[in-house]
Amino acid sequence: MKIIPVITVDGPSGVGKGTTASLLSNHLGWHLLDSGAIYRSLALKVLKTDTEISDIETLVELASHLELSFKSVIGEPTLVFLGGQTVNQELRTESCGTIASIIASIPEVRAQLLQRQIQFRQAPGLVADGRDMGTVVFKDAQIKFFLTASPQERAKRRYKQLKNKGLDANIHALEKEIGARDARDSNRKVSPLVPAEDAIIIDTSQLSIDEVFHYCIDVIDKAGIKANLQR
Ligand code: DC
Repeated sequence: MKIIPVITVDGPSGVGKGTTASLLSNHLGWHLLDSGAIYRSLALKVLKTDTEISDIETLVELASHLELSFKSVIGEPTLVFLGGQTVNQELRTESCGTIASIIASIPEVRAQLLQRQIQFRQAPGLVADGRDMGTVVFKDAQIKFFLTASPQERAKRRYKQLKNKGLDANIHALEKEIGARDARDSNRKVSPLVPAEDAIIIDTSQLSIDEVFHYCIDVIDKAGIKANLQR
C-alpha cells in the first residue's frame, strides 16, 4: 500500500505556521489540516454552552459530537463550519484561543480529537499545522518543520494584525498572554509543544513569510517530494 505523505508544521502561536502551512498545501496541491481550529471549535462550543472547563465528562461529550467541517478552495482561506455555520471570525478571538489552550491540556479531550485529525491524511498528501503534529499525530511524517520566533516579535505581529482589523490592542498585554499560552502549551503532560527530534527548526523572527516559504520549498524539493499537478 502506498504511504500518503505528510509534512508537519508545528510551533507556538504567531510564528506564521498557519500561513506557511497554507502556502505549502497550495503549492503541493495537498490537503491542509489546521488542528488548532479543531481545538478552537471545541472552545467555541464550550463558550456557547456555558460548559465548565473543569467538567471533563461534558467536554469529552462535546468533543465527540462536534459537528465540524472544513471547506477548502486552493488559494483561499479554509472555511470552518460548526453546526453548519461558518465560525472563522469567532475562532480567532483571544478568549477562544485561551480556552482552546486550556482544554487542549486535558488528555481525555486530546484522545477524543485524535482520530478526527488522523482522518485528514488523504491522497495525494497532507500538510498539518499545530503543536504536536510531528511528535504525536503524524510521527511518521516525511518532513517536520518547527517554527519559532521571539515572544516580543510574535506580540508585535499580533498587535499589527489587530490594529489592521481596527481592533484595540495593548502590546504588553499581548506579550503576557503569549507567554502564558506558551507556558501552558509547553509544560502540559500530554503532547507538549516541543520540536520532534527529527524536526527542522526555523527561527522566523527576522524572516518574511515569503522567505520561510521558500526555505521550506527548498527542503521539500531536496527531499524529492513533487507537487500534485493533477488539480
Ligand atoms: O494554533 P492555534 O493558536 O489555533 O491553537 C489554539 C490552541 O489549541 C493552542 O494554544 C493549543 C491548542 N492546540 C494544541 O494543543 N494542539 C494542536 N495540535 C493545535 C492546537
